[in-house]
Amino acid sequence: MRIAVTGGAGYIGSHVALALLQEGHEVIIIDNLSNSSALSLQRISLLAGRSAVFYQTDIRDSEALRRILRQHQVEALLHFAGLKSVGASVSDPLSYYDNNVQGSLRLLQVLQELDLRQLIFSSSATVYGPQQAAPFAEDAALAPSNPYGHSKLMVEQMLRDLCAADARWRVAILRYFNPAGAHPSGLIGEVPRGIPNNLMPYALGVLSGRYPQLRIFGQDYPTPDGTGVRDYIHVMDLSSGHVAALRQLQHRAGCHVFNLGTGRPYSVLDVVDAFQKVSGRALPYVLLPRRPGDVAASYADPRLAEQALAWRAERSLEMMCADAWNFTEHNPDGY
Ligand code: NAD
Ligand code: UFG
Repeated sequence: MRIAVTGGAGYIGSHVALALLQEGHEVIIIDNLSNSSALSLQRISLLAGRSAVFYQTDIRDSEALRRILRQHQVEALLHFAGLKSVGASVSDPLSYYDNNVQGSLRLLQVLQELDLRQLIFSSSATVYGPQQAAPFAEDAALAPSNPYGHSKLMVEQMLRDLCAADARWRVAILRYFNPAGAHPSGLIGEVPRGIPNNLMPYALGVLSGRYPQLRIFGQDYPTPDGTGVRDYIHVMDLSSGHVAALRQLQHRAGCHVFNLGTGRPYSVLDVVDAFQKVSGRALPYVLLPRRPGDVAASYADPRLAEQALAWRAERSLEMMCADAWNFTEHNPDGY
């Protein structure tokens, strides 16, 4: 197929673009590089043995989108482009509504105009909100607690409304839990800009000597060791989840929502142990009070995706940590 990938230079999009190339698809990447480097695209070419077509374009530029999608006669689109920092969305909500909501709206308008009605959208477990008790199934109440989460839920709603209005749409909304890890080659992975807020990239920064110690936020949660638990999922499993969702859309119209997670909760201390084991280095940490806005436990009920997509996340926490560490060791300054 001819498949467009918005945000394909970024962390998750680059891994999925590679998987699509390896499946034999023609891949057209649209990314404004606001949070990524075009070097990731060179690495993908190296790994796949052939290249994706790349346009440095903003998804809010309808004219350019129309031209690209028409020129390549795109048949399906995977929509990763957007901003993803919860903290930044609280301090600058309008840029989140602009990039994530307005950007998606413009994109959908162009898709509709071009009769291109096959789409996979990157949503997030953050739409479940802090009141829910894990594990989260797809039909749990949706109540995000920050502008980033609101922006994801708004786009989900647009997609549900579109599918209700026109039965020709084929849409998969994928709610990712906590993506982690990197391609096992060490050639592509996550490159955070600035000081990371998330556990995995911060822990990698400590391991590589960039930061003196990990600050563990909260030791009194109602979890087995008192630290927060999450559903970390290897980015390679996420990739194969997208390939499975795309396959499923070939014979199922409508709007389908799937959690992409392992269903296995791991604590912050489990992550520390795994990193120490795979790196052979000490990961010093300090226990601090809870971080405002954090929940004790967030993990998926992954059964729907397993049944409907015949897909399952297979890689362990140790593999996530080993592959992420391998990427960091080989690319200490990013791409
Ligand atoms: P990323 O920042 O690495 O990738 C996003 C890409 O989109 C970047 O390359 C960026 O340059 C591009 N982009 C941003 N705004 C754009 C615009 N207006 N026009 C064109 N390109 C634009 O992030 P990621 O971790 O790969 O996340 C991909 C998607 O998955 C995002 O939609 C994110 O919200 C979602 N998601 C990520 C996580 C996570 O923890 N990484 C969790 C749940 C959901
Ligand atoms: N944590 C630390 N120290 C750190 C960073 C995180 O102890 O330096 C802890 C957190 O308190 C939490 C766990 O590690 O218990 C995971 O935190 P992350 O920031 O890595 O991930 P979150 O689950 O808080 O957030 C992620 C994404 C968000 C998304 C959210 C819900 O980053 O974009 O999942 O799906 F909204």
